[in-house]
Amino acid sequence: MTTTAQQSTPQHLFDEAAFDSDFTKIGVRRIAGRIGAEIHDLKLSGSLDDAVFAELNAALLKHKVVFLRGQGHLDDAEHQAFGARFGKTVAHPTVPAREGTRIFELDASKGGGRADSWHTDVTFIDAFPKVSILRGVTIPAYGGDTVWANTAAAYEGLPEHLKQLAERLWAVHSNDYDYGAQRADIDPSRIAHHQKVFVSAVFEAEHPIVHVHPETGERALLLGHFIKRISGLSSAESARIFEILQNRVIRLENTVRWSWRQDDVAIWDNRATQHYAINDYGNQPRVVRRVTVEGVAAVSVDGTRSRTRTRPEAVNDEQIRQVIAQSA
Ligand SMILES: [Fe+2]
Repeated sequence: MTTTAQQSTPQHLFDEAAFDSDFTKIGVRRIAGRIGAEIHDLKLSGSLDDAVFAELNAALLKHKVVFLRGQGHLDDAEHQAFGARFGKTVAHPTVPAREGTRIFELDASKGGGRADSWHTDVTFIDAFPKVSILRGVTIPAYGGDTVWANTAAAYEGLPEHLKQLAERLWAVHSNDYDYGAQRADIDPSRIAHHQKVFVSAVFEAEHPIVHVHPETGERALLLGHFIKRISGLSSAESARIFEILQNRVIRLENTVRWSWRQDDVAIWDNRATQHYAINDYGNQPRVVRRVTVEGVAAVSVDGTRSRTRTRPEAVNDEQIRQVIAQSA
């Protein structure tokens, strides 16, 4: 039985409240309270009108992750061309790109494609990516959602004394992090695959735990699973402080969950978010492809820039393909 109020209020009036009136050239509908919006009636391409792209970028900076349904017209080339509107597109530093592109494919059937722990992309380099654009190519019938968390809201929510502590801390991020230890019931072959491919070359960067966003000026927590330790602390102390701050990031109030359909696109501001791909779809096929846009080194609240500690001399796709072939 419905109430009088529900009967007299058309559904579209409920929806109106979700629309973000800051934007006039694109339709932006909020999904969750602190992060996430869906963009309506927009066909992504490399040749988007400048004013439309400016609104899209503004919506991304405001909502941290935006979603678009029905982008089936995008092939790899157009996906990459759209990504280039944000800046220089870059391949993953250690995982081979799809032939002839800089696209990073996550294919669950190939063993390396389950990003089921909280992270910000590629924080093991100093100038980690600014934006990631993920396209749903093959989506399971059920399961396989992705969750994003707002790291600026997490910082804002800290009590003042924890903000002050976090602002002084730096952390070492590495691709050689403890992959298996974070997961229960992990298939040992996945750990072996990860070690051979992803850690084929070790990268390490040191970032401030609180960084100032280069476009919005917001302060945000920079954490996630690539952190190896907090600078100047023992591993036990690092783990405890990491847990306190990371738990703030992933509070459900700071998150939005997206249920994928084929041809969806998710665009996230990698400087203000973490994400987690839920590994609950069993052996169903799942393929998503990512275009990644180069960022700049993070900057602490006192203006100090992130630094690279370790970077291999030469890593190329062919070397990595050989490693994969040897591990098969
Ligand atoms: Fe990721």
